Amino acid sequence: MNVKMLSSPRHCVSLLLAVFVSGCYGYSIRYDGYKVLRVDASNERHLRLMNQLQHDRELDFWKFPKDVMVPPEKLAGVVERLDSNGVAYDVMIADVQKLIDSQETQYIEGRHNLDLAGYDFTRYYNLSEIAQWVKDIAATYPSLATEVQVGLSYEGRELRALKVGSEQSESKEAIWFHGTLHSREWISPATVMFMTNQLLVDYSHDPDVQKYLDTYDFYILPVMNPDGYEYTWTDNRLWRKTRSPNEGSPCYGTDGNRNFEFMWGEPGASDDPCDNNYRGPFAHSEIEVKSVTDFILDTSEKQTFSLFIDFHCYGQMWITPWAYSIEEPLHYSEQHTCAGRAASAIESVHGTPYIYGNIISNADPASGLTLDWGYGTANIKHSYLVELRDRGEYGFLLPEDQIIPSGEETYAGLKAMLDCILEGQVV
Ligand SMILES: *[C@@H]1O[C@H](CO)[C@@H](O)[C@H](O)[C@H]1NC(C)=O
Ligand SMILES: [Zn+2]
Repeated sequence: MNVKMLSSPRHCVSLLLAVFVSGCYGYSIRYDGYKVLRVDASNERHLRLMNQLQHDRELDFWKFPKDVMVPPEKLAGVVERLDSNGVAYDVMIADVQKLIDSQETQYIEGRHNLDLAGYDFTRYYNLSEIAQWVKDIAATYPSLATEVQVGLSYEGRELRALKVGSEQSESKEAIWFHGTLHSREWISPATVMFMTNQLLVDYSHDPDVQKYLDTYDFYILPVMNPDGYEYTWTDNRLWRKTRSPNEGSPCYGTDGNRNFEFMWGEPGASDDPCDNNYRGPFAHSEIEVKSVTDFILDTSEKQTFSLFIDFHCYGQMWITPWAYSIEEPLHYSEQHTCAGRAASAIESVHGTPYIYGNIISNADPASGLTLDWGYGTANIKHSYLVELRDRGEYGFLLPEDQIIPSGEETYAGLKAMLDCILEGQVV
């Protein structure tokens, strides 16, 4: 969070020029000279310092307690405190705005390698393109995919999902996954879309995928926080939260991933609307969270959910419940086994190492999270939060040439997870 986020957004001044050059990246909120530091916070004393720094609203912890974005005018002070406490650090990103600018999406004419629906996953798609993609997928695969409206966002944008599955049997189980609860994590919608497309492409020839789509109905929502996602294309590339206003505060938005009702309000979420992990005024205060949870609970009356995944970045982790506690849940051994198979399947594709298990709670318990709700409230045994690429080299600003590799490896992880669940049901 930085104070500049409070200023009212200007319109995109470079619009006219940009039409001829490339995409419009006239961001009104800029990060010139901001650095991301990777801090070696390895003991209690270091952690205490990082906790103190977290109260400084101008510092944005990309990943607590290790990765922190620091504005230029704060750098000397932060470095001084790290040095005097003997905390080592590296500069992970030297100039955040330069990196953002260097990643401006190029709308190249005459693209090739398009899939059946006309997409190639070589660049990030914005919200209106993703909405169109949902329609195009449903039109391209009418016997396997239909569009589903899950609800509306705070600013009235549609939560557009796809229902993907064959009509081989009457009583199918269900699977839910989504991306982009945190809007700056652009690799999550891209990876979700890639995997969805691959399931549909592979259904014609891959017996495993035929089994998945014959057994399950997949409910897939690429963008759970459309207001935030749009805002990351128009005003602030690094916006994380929803865009609902907060009464009595100049700060906007709630952290969707602290707003779920299971253990809401416990430690590991902020009650300050200006914080990036603000839990909201009450559980399910965010209409996006309310719409998705209502949809899953309503659908659960007809279909049993076997798997729930919330895709984020970054960190390369397949995370199992609980996030709020170090207590092992009842089904921990099954969850841990299947998460492990998913992680090794991911690594086998491009060598991307993943860690897995009940990881959050060891370092930093967090409450009101998706995966705890999926398991604890919706009773979905296999309920996970996946942190996609990378481990911090680019963080939220993952280059577009990693979309396809991320999609390929995560798809392998999803298939390994489905195999693991199907195997468990036979036993
Ligand atoms: C989204 O992409 C389309 C091109 O496909 C472009 O016309 C539109 O301006 C873009 N919107 C934003 C907010 O970047
Ligand atoms: Zn996230």
